[in-house]
Amino acid sequence: MQKLLIKGKKYLNGSISISGSKNATLPILAASILANNTKLRNVPLVKDIFTMTNLLKFIGIKIKVCTKKKTIELVNNNRNINTLAPYKLVKTMRAGILVLGPLLTKYKKAKVSLPGGCAIGTRPVDLHLLALKKLGAKIKIKDGYIIAEAKTGLFGANIKFPSTSVGATENALIAAHGAKGKTILSNCAIEPEILDLISFLKKLGSKIKISGRKISIEGKEISTNKINHKVIFDRIEAGTYLVAGALIGKKITIKKIVPKILKYEISILKKMGAKITYANNFISIKKSKYLKKASVSTKPYPGFPTDLQAQLMVLMTQAQGLSIIKENIFENRFMHVPELRRMGAKIKIKNKTAYIYGPTKLTGAEVMATDLRASVSLVLAGLIADNRTIINRIYHLDRGYEYLEKKLKNCKAAVKRV
Ligand code: EPZ
Repeated sequence: MQKLLIKGKKYLNGSISISGSKNATLPILAASILANNTKLRNVPLVKDIFTMTNLLKFIGIKIKVCTKKKTIELVNNNRNINTLAPYKLVKTMRAGILVLGPLLTKYKKAKVSLPGGCAIGTRPVDLHLLALKKLGAKIKIKDGYIIAEAKTGLFGANIKFPSTSVGATENALIAAHGAKGKTILSNCAIEPEILDLISFLKKLGSKIKISGRKISIEGKEISTNKINHKVIFDRIEAGTYLVAGALIGKKITIKKIVPKILKYEISILKKMGAKITYANNFISIKKSKYLKKASVSTKPYPGFPTDLQAQLMVLMTQAQGLSIIKENIFENRFMHVPELRRMGAKIKIKNKTAYIYGPTKLTGAEVMATDLRASVSLVLAGLIADNRTIINRIYHLDRGYEYLEKKLKNCKAAVKRV
């Protein structure tokens, strides 16, 4: 098992180009089942993407990945299609559930393994199934699989989500693309990754209108032309490096991004004292001498993202006084806390709220990654800790951060993989 070794207290100086968004690429790859010919550009070549392409190959889609150009080409000639997503491929990546909507709407049936839980929570899929049933699907759960069918196809419907779910909104949008008639989805998630999926579905011919959290979608016969799509930047990767800059940046410039999508995150970091300037496609950030405490609650977009909670917590360990983070999205997303405590952080947890006392000196330790974002918070802690930090189980990092060591080393960090 590979490890990451970090020698702390090296000021970061330089620029970082942000990769394409993993969480935009995954639903768009699933939606490409609806097209005959798709070319995706600016794709992040991270483990989860290859897990999804393996699943699509199993289903019968022809895939060509070009690592140099960061493109994925997909051809669906509708021959030997296997409308099955097996447990062995879905258990390692929950987003495999996203093939349910496209398979159902295009082939009128699908058998998809229940994704099961993960380190951050039980991760139910009831909202996905609620939406597909409203569109006319017959669904039953048997031997750990979702068995769905729609003999006469799916029909447009009015669907109100009881709570916002990124994945359920995505599954419903893709399914509604192939449904007869208009679908209106209310109380949707409207993350930038969903807007990117919507722009992809529009290229497939769908008429889609968004107002607030309401999305109307009128599906259309599957178009036969070649769909060309450039994936948006990864705002969580960008936010992660912004926190690194606020922690120990002499000056870091984050490039290939759209700063306005990170408006909320920038406002929090500025309020805490980080020195930030930005223009239309980059943000520069420097650490400040003193960091002020902050109180943050994770919320669906445009609120503070749960995927940046662990990273912000590391910054809060260096802020003056008591900072607070309330985790509202997942029931168990504080797995990084025991590891940060072993490095010297003073953090108390009470009913899904973390109380972080700062500033505290962090010292390097051997720690263990548990999930993607917890792992990267340990990297951030290692960058500011005295002496050396060893991070185990870094396969979690490889699921969602492209060239992490290389990007940090280019900014003078002492990081190496062994
Ligand atoms: C997406 O997960 C992201 N994954 C997550 O990023 C992200 O943390 C999450 O959205 C929230 O922004 C991808 O896009 C691949 P949800 P998703 O459905 O769709 C509950 C990362 O680090 N819920 O919005 O699974 C659920 O338990 C990953 O890149 C139901 O109750 O998240 C959670 O409490 C981690 N029933 C809340 O809703 C359902 O049917 C939000 O989940 C679905 C979800």
